[in-house]
Amino acid sequence: MEETTHIYPIFDKMLGRSDKEQLLNQRGVMIWFTGLSGSGKSTLAIAMERELQKRGLLCRILDGDNIRSGINNNLGFSEADRMENIRRIAEIGKLFVDTGIITLAAFISPNNDMREMAANIIGKQDFMEIYISTPLEECERRDVKGLYAKARRGEIKNFTGISAPFEVPAHPALSLDTSKLSVEESVNKLLELILPKVKL
Ligand code: PPS
Repeated sequence: MEETTHIYPIFDKMLGRSDKEQLLNQRGVMIWFTGLSGSGKSTLAIAMERELQKRGLLCRILDGDNIRSGINNNLGFSEADRMENIRRIAEIGKLFVDTGIITLAAFISPNNDMREMAANIIGKQDFMEIYISTPLEECERRDVKGLYAKARRGEIKNFTGISAPFEVPAHPALSLDTSKLSVEESVNKLLELILPKVKL
């Protein structure tokens, strides 16, 4: 058990992160996917979760489906709203990481400032930035949700890559271009990076 000293004795009995990590036999970490809409962030997060689970490792995916539709459903896509979106995601992510869970966050997180803030909230030692570098042309060609076409017609404002900026990360732990790599190839590169970090 971790040794702590609190004013209220009950808090001394509170279990800490390493107690949880020992229970799970893994280390908590944040794997932060950044990249354009349609670049493959969620696809890779989902594929990774399956691979890690097969190896007995517990994960939690955070993505638009469970965050923007829920706790962040009052936020849009202005610079300020995106910042707040990422701030809340980082705070939630930190709770999972502190519980020893491998957390996979898949958000555009378009600016260096936003990603820096997320890394600071979570703690740089627990934060791995993965840049999904699939080019805009390919994301637009895929246009899975038809949003690029709408953005080109001016029906969606502030659309990342079209009418809002995306700052390429300067020093990501890994860059993956899903127009050149298969899902399996990307997952293998991710596993190589992540497995040593999550082993106790
Ligand atoms: S951000 O920038 O990190 O706050 O964005 P995120 O929470 O990842 O949400 C991105 C998804 O929202 C849809 N969408 C938009 N994306 C970018 N710009 C604008 N204006 C926009 N409006 C809606 C889009 O489907 C993104 O989906 P993904 O999953 O990234 O493909």
